[in-house]
Amino acid sequence: MRIVKNIKDLRCVIGEWRQNGQSIAFVPTMGNLHAGHLQLVKTAQLQAHRVVVSIFVNPAQFGPNEDFASYPRTEQQDEDKLTACGADLLFLPDVGEMYPNPLQTKVSVQGLSTLHCGASRPGHFDGVALVVCKLLNMVQPDLLFLGEKDFQQLAVIRTMVADLNIPVTIQGVPTVREADGLAMSSRNGYLTPAERQLAPLLYRALCDARAEALSDTADFPAIIERQSQALRNAGFELDYLRICRRADLLPADKSDTDLVILIAAKLGKTRLIDNIYLSR
Ligand code: PAJ
Repeated sequence: MRIVKNIKDLRCVIGEWRQNGQSIAFVPTMGNLHAGHLQLVKTAQLQAHRVVVSIFVNPAQFGPNEDFASYPRTEQQDEDKLTACGADLLFLPDVGEMYPNPLQTKVSVQGLSTLHCGASRPGHFDGVALVVCKLLNMVQPDLLFLGEKDFQQLAVIRTMVADLNIPVTIQGVPTVREADGLAMSSRNGYLTPAERQLAPLLYRALCDARAEALSDTADFPAIIERQSQALRNAGFELDYLRICRRADLLPADKSDTDLVILIAAKLGKTRLIDNIYLSR
């Protein structure tokens, strides 16, 4: 696997592949790689000649009181995992390479970015849209692979790519879970052993909510209330649990068919998110 740290070298390697007529897939990450990230790489390998992975902990998407400084950085292990997986190129820019000057340009997907996680993390999705827009301009891939685990992020990036006519095809990859159902996440490492035991209840609540919502007589607000209370009783600090339309992430009613149940909750200091599809 080639490793490059600056944009010039990145463009040079990719340019050679392009000259040889090879297609490029791109997997952006913030590192501390786990099986969920590697699933994106493996899925990408099936669909393009070359797979480019980036690792960049993007300061622009962290709030002032969030975990930017303590976000797990495990560069050597990440390199080893990507090499073992057969990724072709790792782009490892530092902050100076990505943000050499104070930016005068904003990338903001209005509306969508203010819902759900956007309401609790103001500016977060602007930071995500900005860095993904910049990375797409640097890599210029044919295909972009993103996890469905971060469902709102996927929706924000799909909207940005459509609105700005960025010539890339986006593919969402289903959430990879631990054996007990907990969605894999770099932040799971923050959980204490006791919290780690409780954490799968988040996915359990999603599964139970889905089972209940499938019934013809389903009462969405009652389902949400019941599952929210169960999580609070177990010790979660619930941010939101919502049944939404998959297309625009707005609240669903019983006439909608393609739904997603979104959840975010804190367990101690750790904020966890997850979601599950529901087709009625
Ligand atoms: P990060 O949290 O490192 O995630 C990188 C990619 O891996 C995202 O597309 C995310 O949805 C996906 N992913 C994470 N956990 C997953 C799981 N359990 N199953 C499947 N896919 C999973 O998301 C980001 O980084 C950043 O916001 C980024 C897009 C890189 C912009 O900075």
